[in-house]
Amino acid sequence: MEDLNWVYTENVKDHFMNPRNVLEDLESYDYDGFGKTGNVKCGDEMIFVIKVDSEKQIITDCKWKPYGCASAIATTSKLSEMVTGMPLKEAYRISPRDIVDELGGLPDNKIHCSVIEDKAL
Ligand code: FES
Repeated sequence: MEDLNWVYTENVKDHFMNPRNVLEDLESYDYDGFGKTGNVKCGDEMIFVIKVDSEKQIITDCKWKPYGCASAIATTSKLSEMVTGMPLKEAYRISPRDIVDELGGLPDNKIHCSVIEDKAL
């Protein structure tokens, strides 16, 4: 019997194959906030940088650099879309579950991959 627990949604596959807002060069990106985190169990790492309109307290742009699995890439790509244009306070309250829901789900054994970018943000 086929193990359907490993089936990814079309949305997850799209964000993995066509990741949005990937950081090309940290040196040339003039960011206001920098976050870096990793998962010691799998060795994956994530950098997430944001630009902020300090007067309005809104994230005006963000980029990220992945060293991770397909699920980490897809969830970070989705998160980067979600927080662009969002007030900082609102972005701070986004949970890994919110990101997974926006993607239409992740296999149960890959849910932990959605935490890495949440922590970096
Ligand atoms: Fe490490 Fe997915 S296996 S974040």
